[in-house]
Amino acid sequence: MKTYKRTLVTSALPYANGPLHIGHLAGAYLPSDLYTRFQRMRGTDIVHVCGSDEHGVPITIAAEREGVTPQQVVDRYHSLNKRTFERFGISFDHYSRTSSPVHHRTASDFFLKLLEKGVFKRKEEWQLYDAEKQMFLPDRYVKGTCPSCGHPEAYGDQCESCGTSLSPSELIDPVSALSGTPPEKRRTEHWYLPLGEFQEKIDTWIGSHPEWKPNVLGQCQSWIQAGLSDRAVTRDLNWGVPVPVDGADGKVLYVWFDAPIGYISATKEWAEAAGDPDRWKAYWQDEQTRLVHFIGKDNIVFHCIIFPAMLMAHGGFVLPEQVPANEFLNLEGRKLSTSRNWAIWVHEVIEETDPDLLRYVLAGTMPETRDSDFSWKEFQQRVNTELADVLG
Ligand code: 2FM
Ligand code: ZN
Repeated sequence: MKTYKRTLVTSALPYANGPLHIGHLAGAYLPSDLYTRFQRMRGTDIVHVCGSDEHGVPITIAAEREGVTPQQVVDRYHSLNKRTFERFGISFDHYSRTSSPVHHRTASDFFLKLLEKGVFKRKEEWQLYDAEKQMFLPDRYVKGTCPSCGHPEAYGDQCESCGTSLSPSELIDPVSALSGTPPEKRRTEHWYLPLGEFQEKIDTWIGSHPEWKPNVLGQCQSWIQAGLSDRAVTRDLNWGVPVPVDGADGKVLYVWFDAPIGYISATKEWAEAAGDPDRWKAYWQDEQTRLVHFIGKDNIVFHCIIFPAMLMAHGGFVLPEQVPANEFLNLEGRKLSTSRNWAIWVHEVIEETDPDLLRYVLAGTMPETRDSDFSWKEFQQRVNTELADVLG
């Protein structure tokens, strides 16, 4: 069995576009905290990093909805979520944010390294454009009638009424969600990561991890069997890490390209704050590091296929040893939903409940192998019988 000198734990960077709910905690942050605390007690050299994911369409959409700037959105939710994690007792060694200068530099350098190594393909394509707002439209910014169910307000990436995944070209009578005008098509150029070229390496590497959870391996295998293909790593958007190339005005790195690099940036900031700026290197570049990514199931492909391919392409980095992804937590039998306001917001509930009670109950109902359910009835029962009666 391989022995390790140190462990680096990462928890998925939550989007700074809204408050945290108990599904976030049960999916990634409570398991990572329990694991880290346990390892610290055993004397393991362990560092746990996280931070706010502050780029991409999820942020600009929230800004549109709230009528404020993207910067105001991320400032608000970064502070709220950072404070919520502290109050709930999630013990990160460092909680960063992807708008930090260290992150912008790290993500730009990563992109430039791949560019220099000739990894990317450049492709021109047609993209929908809003002539009135003078901007290219991300899929989510296009609305129209769903070809599957006829819902008149389906988005260009998904119909929220019937759940079908869509592309904007499939929508009937598409309009820009920003101006309400029909979009036109314009040519634009992007950089692509040719994932197909990594298929064999990724397949062999995943094959060397039969100990991963079946839900994680299952998703990886279905992606690999379908065949990996080119993925655009840049977007036409004015919010994100600018593409560090002359003539790429108005283009930023795709949020799923920069966000996982945020784990590296956060480790750099942690080392800097610890007074030993080069210390991050041991955690990312020494073979004797065990890298563990705690995530929810919707992030599996990014952490088990795309980010590892980026790390392989770059070279010199360790790959994750474990990716313990949880399934989803439901609330009183229904899917948690921020947009439908069906959630228990962590910053609110800890005003009224001792976080340790919630930690205990969530730890007992964590969706480790299948979706699970949280109910107040069960909370009451567990607290009264298991904590007050048995433990008390
Ligand atoms: O799904 C999400 O909430 C993403 N913000 C997770 C990013 S994880 C990592 F790659 F940064
Ligand atoms: Zn539909």
